[in-house]
Amino acid sequence: MTAPEGTVEVEVAARRVVANGVLEIELRPVDGTPWPGHGPGAHVDVHLPNGLIRQYSLLSASDGAQPAKIAVLKTDDSRGGSRFVHERLRPGHRILVSEPKNTFELGEKDAHAVLIAGGIGVTPLLAMARRLAARGASFEFHYRVRTPDRAAYATELAALVPAGALHVAADSDGSTFTPEDVLRAAGPNATVYVCGPEAFMEYVRKGALAAGIAADAFRVEHFKHEADTEGRPFTLTAARSKVTVRVGATETPAQVLDRAGVFVPTACEQGVCGTCVARVVSGTPDHRDVVLTAAEKASGSVVTLCCSRAATPELVVDL
Ligand code: FES
Repeated sequence: MTAPEGTVEVEVAARRVVANGVLEIELRPVDGTPWPGHGPGAHVDVHLPNGLIRQYSLLSASDGAQPAKIAVLKTDDSRGGSRFVHERLRPGHRILVSEPKNTFELGEKDAHAVLIAGGIGVTPLLAMARRLAARGASFEFHYRVRTPDRAAYATELAALVPAGALHVAADSDGSTFTPEDVLRAAGPNATVYVCGPEAFMEYVRKGALAAGIAADAFRVEHFKHEADTEGRPFTLTAARSKVTVRVGATETPAQVLDRAGVFVPTACEQGVCGTCVARVVSGTPDHRDVVLTAAEKASGSVVTLCCSRAATPELVVDL
């Protein structure tokens, strides 16, 4: 098969469990060509055979010589991306992935980097730790997990992070994590990189603000966002298509419109990429995405159909 432009056909070369519920997958281009080079923090869109597209960080930067590896946490994701990877994806399977993209780049000249991971958000930060260690750069690593057995790559990190600068802790231990204190101690010249669940990143962001970290020295990776897509049923009209549907409590507008024959382009299906944005004709959206800006959300003029809902009984979109 010829991979569509911007994608690479890869074979699952290996899989191994790296923590409770976390599976590492090694991907190799099937035609033997080198994997496209990329810096730390890069991710790929993985096109799963069940039709879902999911974004996963690459565990290392690469000049193309090394195979690509991702790590996937099994979640109760109702759309089934991680479940498919854990239960069905086996060595020898061939899938399409996008070429690496990097929306979470590591600075070249940070005076001091503070890497903060929540759970599976460790993956892009592991790639950054590898690069920082290779550079001999000044950095520290804070890694929060729910339970100790979920701390994937803790051993690798211990070998990479400068002595005394790795802090791995589990919620189940009753320990607390106060980003404001951590970032105040790191100092105002620190650059902060955060990846993890949305609420965790928001918690760290507030701490960074309180600690006086400049906005442009605070970097987050958003694609781990798992949108909460459920809510009250509402009526949705695609005005140009002249189609009206009822969106049930556990359905998304994109799913229902799709069933009714109205094509909604989607990619991430998690409110991250913006592929599914539609103009609002009337009604008020209930935004569940992280891709629209605060101003766009406040204007109520656009909505992400893969995950958002309506705050009014009816929503009409220009589709
Ligand atoms: Fe990515 Fe909706 S498909 S934001």
